[in-house]
Amino acid sequence: MSVKRIKGFADMFPPDSDAFTFMEGKAREIFGRCGFVELRTPVVEPTELFCRSIGEETDVVRKEMYTFPDRKDRSLTLRPEATAGVMRAYIEAARHTREPVSKLFTTGPMFRYERPQKGRMRQFHQINCECLGSSSPYTDADMIIALMTFLTEIGLKNLTLKVNSLGCPSCRATYKAALVAYLRSLNAEGLCEDCRRRMESNPLRVLDCKQPGCKELTAGAPTILDYNCPDCRAHFDVVTRMLAAAGVNMEQDDRLVRGLDYYCRTTFEVVSGDIGAQGSVAGGGRYDGLIRQLGGPDIPGVGFACGMERLALLLPEREAVRPDFFVAAMGGEAQDAAFLLVQRLRRAGRSGDMSHAGGGFKSQMRQADRSGARFCLILGEDELASGTVSVKDMAGGEQRKIALADIESIFA
Ligand code: HAM
Repeated sequence: MSVKRIKGFADMFPPDSDAFTFMEGKAREIFGRCGFVELRTPVVEPTELFCRSIGEETDVVRKEMYTFPDRKDRSLTLRPEATAGVMRAYIEAARHTREPVSKLFTTGPMFRYERPQKGRMRQFHQINCECLGSSSPYTDADMIIALMTFLTEIGLKNLTLKVNSLGCPSCRATYKAALVAYLRSLNAEGLCEDCRRRMESNPLRVLDCKQPGCKELTAGAPTILDYNCPDCRAHFDVVTRMLAAAGVNMEQDDRLVRGLDYYCRTTFEVVSGDIGAQGSVAGGGRYDGLIRQLGGPDIPGVGFACGMERLALLLPEREAVRPDFFVAAMGGEAQDAAFLLVQRLRRAGRSGDMSHAGGGFKSQMRQADRSGARFCLILGEDELASGTVSVKDMAGGEQRKIALADIESIFA
């Protein structure tokens, strides 16, 4: 029996792989314009890195990580997200001693053991941006605008940007206490099992529960924005004011708490109504205490990640890139000349191919057609004798003879 791929993992042929290449190219271009440079980190990290950053009580760490011992019994984990690895690399390279602000772009596969469904994979891909070294609210707004520019420039429509502020550790503690008091006042029987546990361990996550019963029961929960301290309030005001001034539509959502524990102040998510239940296409926020918590200097940060599989579901169809030529050879001698013509044109920067299996005229013309090439270049006995090539324009159908030496002029 042949070996099959693992559930929740995908192979990608064109057009899917083309869509990914397109998105990565656009991301490099657009985030490059904003000053981001590319960082590549390993896909495997010490398990402890994720426990200490994402948080022991999060779903990601509790039940979604691919964790395994290596041959020396060290616990390793396939990265479930990029942020933690980027922080580790930033600290390890002491980047803060080289530049006051680091803007780092990462892309690649992430792994979460979730139930696979449309837009949710066990191996998925993120485009990730982190800005380290600035606590300014202008940076938060700049990051969100960069994200929205990227999503718009790849052709996405009907997106909703949700923003919230989770406050700083001190005002959030006051909010948490108020929230726990409120949750305790409810009939706990009405909450799902996860929420009953989270109520004490991670009460903010109760606000994010998708169960209709929990949503209904907690509808009157106190709102976090009412508990933001004056500094956090002022920070958030600049973020929302600059987004509005830059013409970015947003929705304030005081129940947006995100699934990872490292956030403070600004959090945001971009949601699409067009791809079913897994509608969150991008998310991020500020994480000022994270670098210090991981043993680094006290440096603030803000970032986001887009899920490429979900973006791909929403991409408008793009025209496939067509090769410039297909060379058809009629006869054994022409095969050699055709082979060398293909090499010459490729060296000159033109794209195209030929059939090494030869075959009849009709079959080669069918292949030329199927390849989508702009021109079919025909080499037969007549052409060889006269030092010419018959050039067929595949769109219009007309055919003419051109001197072999001048063949590149047809592409002008
Ligand atoms: P996240 O919200 O966990 O945030 O993931 C970001 C995006 O990755 C989601 O909005 C979604 O599009 C995609 N995603 C997550 N899980 C899956 C999955 N199983 N299958 C397909 N797509 C998925 C983070 O990962 C943070 N590290 C973002 C961040 C960067 N915050 C600050 N900097």
